[in-house]
Amino acid sequence: MTAKHDQYRRKAEGWSEHEYADGAAYLDRRAQVVVELGPPLRPGDEVLDLACGDGGLGAHLLRRGLRYRGVDATPEMVVAAQRALGQSAVVEEGDLDAYAPPGPVAATTVFRAIYYARDRRAFFERVAGFTTTKLVFDLNPRQYRMNDVLADLRSAGFDRVAVRPFFVPQRVALPRVASALLRGIERTGPLARLVLRARFTYLVAAWRSVDPT
Ligand SMILES: C[S@@+](CC[C@H](N)C(=O)[O-])C[C@H]1O[C@@H](n2cnc3c(N)ncnc32)[C@H](O)[C@@H]1O
Repeated sequence: MTAKHDQYRRKAEGWSEHEYADGAAYLDRRAQVVVELGPPLRPGDEVLDLACGDGGLGAHLLRRGLRYRGVDATPEMVVAAQRALGQSAVVEEGDLDAYAPPGPVAATTVFRAIYYARDRRAFFERVAGFTTTKLVFDLNPRQYRMNDVLADLRSAGFDRVAVRPFFVPQRVALPRVASALLRGIERTGPLARLVLRARFTYLVAAWRSVDPT
């Protein structure tokens, strides 16, 4: 157990409230992008959220008529997510490098945790084996080279990719006008890329043009 993992145990209870200045707004926007980026999800589709933390994203996906399966390696996070979501979702303990759902899922998501995959390419290959519609994750371009990640996705069979900036601050709750302005900048191309040199992340959806399942 690393110091980081020990920290997750201690912070599990109330994770979403502490980590996100405006958790409801942040996670709702994330859920919206999960549904809309790349091939859209439809009510009834199942989302597998790997490294789900306290399952904060779950409520926002359930509200959109999706089914939610959360998986996390930290037992305290699993308990917090189970408590928050109750019978409306499945939450299990598991390692994202080894977990396989009982059947295919429409979407697999990984937020703020892609770096826990021991071998990113092998991880993408495993996910591709049980994901029918798309994989969605966030990527910090100051930490990873987009081209390296795209190459790993292609090699895993994800031949289609959609990438978009996600300019919702995690630790600051902005007034409405400022949020709207940032949302506008997400779509500006060069200006958005400039912003990404200093802050924020991309959201990436990857899928296969031919469904293998
Ligand atoms: C930064 S938190 C992100 C939680 C949530 N996805 C979010 O966006 O708020 C990282 C999470 O990854 C989990 N985690 C770390 N290593 C893992 C692994 N190998 N398999 C599954 N979960 C893991 C931690 O327990 C923690 O809940």
